[in-house]
Amino acid sequence: MIGRWQSICPTVRELAHPSLKARRGEKWTGSTACRDTMWLTLLYSCTGGAALLYALYRWLIPAAVQYHGGLALIWHDVIVEWILDTLTHSTRPQRLLSAVQKNATRGDPSSVVKAIDQFCRQKEWAMNVGDEKGCILDLVVSEVNPTFVLELGTYCGYSTVRIARLLPPHAKVITLEFNPDFAAIAHQVIAWAGLEDKVHLIVGASGDWIPKMKEQFGLNSFDLVFLDHWKDRYLPDTKLMEECGLLRQGSILLADNVICPGAPDYLDYVRRSSQYESQYFKSHLEYTKVEDGLEKSIFLG
Ligand SMILES: C[S@@+](CC[C@H](N)C(=O)[O-])C[C@H]1O[C@@H](n2cnc3c(N)ncnc32)[C@H](O)[C@@H]1O
Repeated sequence: MIGRWQSICPTVRELAHPSLKARRGEKWTGSTACRDTMWLTLLYSCTGGAALLYALYRWLIPAAVQYHGGLALIWHDVIVEWILDTLTHSTRPQRLLSAVQKNATRGDPSSVVKAIDQFCRQKEWAMNVGDEKGCILDLVVSEVNPTFVLELGTYCGYSTVRIARLLPPHAKVITLEFNPDFAAIAHQVIAWAGLEDKVHLIVGASGDWIPKMKEQFGLNSFDLVFLDHWKDRYLPDTKLMEECGLLRQGSILLADNVICPGAPDYLDYVRRSSQYESQYFKSHLEYTKVEDGLEKSIFLG
């Protein structure tokens, strides 16, 4: 490839300065000029094409999809992730962790949150609760001032760090993640934030672990449950928590992504049931302008 461009470069120079050829004693013929023009056109086309592809990837498509939930998720969560994984031979969680290690201060949870938000706004979207809905999460955590928090769906530990940094002394977050690769990254992100003593990260599926919670952790109930795993699990896991007696009168359920991608059966349940008092907090899908929100539901017993 380099040799090919080296052979083009003298030709381009010579096209601009035909005297170069004359100095070397070569004749300036029509066919040489034609060949040189062809190379020049090819060079311009390749450069222009590459610039257009980059502009499409970096600005035009992201701007076009940011108001449409389905398109935004397909673009960021499928296409871009696949392209970057293939080009870099790394995964999105690994790249997110590198951004934390490069830009956040060890032992400073807020700098970890900031580094992840910067990474997701400037480099790569990721499925964290994000900065905008994260502020609502912060408000609910501060208001509830919980001792025991259950988080369903850890991913890279972004929301875990957000929650744990606001907890009073002796309070704990138990967070569940069934993907061991994500859990390994989350473990390092939480450690970087200096919050290991506040977080218990379990690698396993919610349906298997909810029935074991009381026995494993010797607790009676959760003060706050943050639901942020796969959306079709919100309703069955809520019913499972009720059955297992993990919710007490006044326990709060806070569910992310109730609009996008959406959890309609769950929303219907908590809004209609006399066992819950429910409130919607309107916001946007993480790092986009698509409507999404959090549903806060108080368990009345
Ligand atoms: C949206 S991400 C969580 C984002 C995270 N709460 C944050 O804001 O940083 C959802 C995560 O839930 C995990 N997950 C999905 N279903 C699960 C289940 N039934 N049990 C445990 N983890 C689950 C997925 O592997 C994924 O990492």
